[in-house]
Amino acid sequence: MKKFFDVSDIGDLNAALAEAFQVKKNPLAWKSLGENRTIMLVFFNSSLRTRLSSQKAALNLGMNPIVLNIGQDSWKLETQMGVVMDSDKSEHLREAIPVITSYCDIIGIRSFAGLTDREFDYGETILNQFIEYGSKPVISLESATVHPCQAFADLITIEEYKRKARPKVVMTWAPHPKALPQAVPNSFAQWMNRADVDFVITHPHGYELDPKFAGNAKVEYDQFKALEGADFVYAKNWSCPGVTNPADYGKILSKDMSWTVDDAHMAVTDNAYFLHCLPVRRNMIVSDSVIDSPSSLVIPEAANRVVSAQVVMKRMLEAL
Ligand code: CP
Repeated sequence: MKKFFDVSDIGDLNAALAEAFQVKKNPLAWKSLGENRTIMLVFFNSSLRTRLSSQKAALNLGMNPIVLNIGQDSWKLETQMGVVMDSDKSEHLREAIPVITSYCDIIGIRSFAGLTDREFDYGETILNQFIEYGSKPVISLESATVHPCQAFADLITIEEYKRKARPKVVMTWAPHPKALPQAVPNSFAQWMNRADVDFVITHPHGYELDPKFAGNAKVEYDQFKALEGADFVYAKNWSCPGVTNPADYGKILSKDMSWTVDDAHMAVTDNAYFLHCLPVRRNMIVSDSVIDSPSSLVIPEAANRVVSAQVVMKRMLEAL
């Protein structure tokens, strides 16, 4: 595996899940695979889970993880091509990428969408520069449009807890005070479209996800109707993807608190489990009563981030 970005990069999902459960059962079984190998984990943005789970997965495989926080541990990096570098950014990605990748065998990148230039974000301009100029396998640790390590962990969690062969999985938009990227819902939709689930997306008008990720998923604008009979409720906020109106890209179109997932929402489901990638704003995205209830899987879901990362790194090491 040379890159982990799209669901297609993981290949057959059943095989990936089987491998994930092997890794989960015996995480140290491949301890010698990463001996004398280094993974560079490059963060342009904050993280708790991705940072720690990636390091833990690398250590389980015997690798040396190095974390670099761009702009804090390093120079600030210029990401735009052809600019006069007279701002506070001292180094260009064109030099930084080959330097960073010369020190490692695998590289993971976190670089959120800026939410101002849709073409720049949806072109995955930063991640693609690491692929083009880096010559080492690249893992998206949440880039502008995707968060595949999260979606894989979500799928593992659904597989572990499902009570039906083909569960109903509903991804619901929920309100948030800040404009957030679409990477998590994009990847979740992309992965659920490939999984053996009945997948429904619900959000207010204007929040339609890019068709590249939403595919043929059913969209139901009535949140309560969408949640009827759900086995899993996946809550997430995202800003406007700019599909119906490009001028609205990255904007907050609604802060409607009636979309906050609470007991009334969960009551119309089939005793559903609650999922969220975290970090979560309590009583904005989800009520205390739901996230603190036995149906909340947010902690095991976060724990599975080690498993998903380890499968991806394991495959990359095996292909070196
Ligand atoms: N879910 C997730 O990626 O969490 P962090 O932003 O804390 O890494």
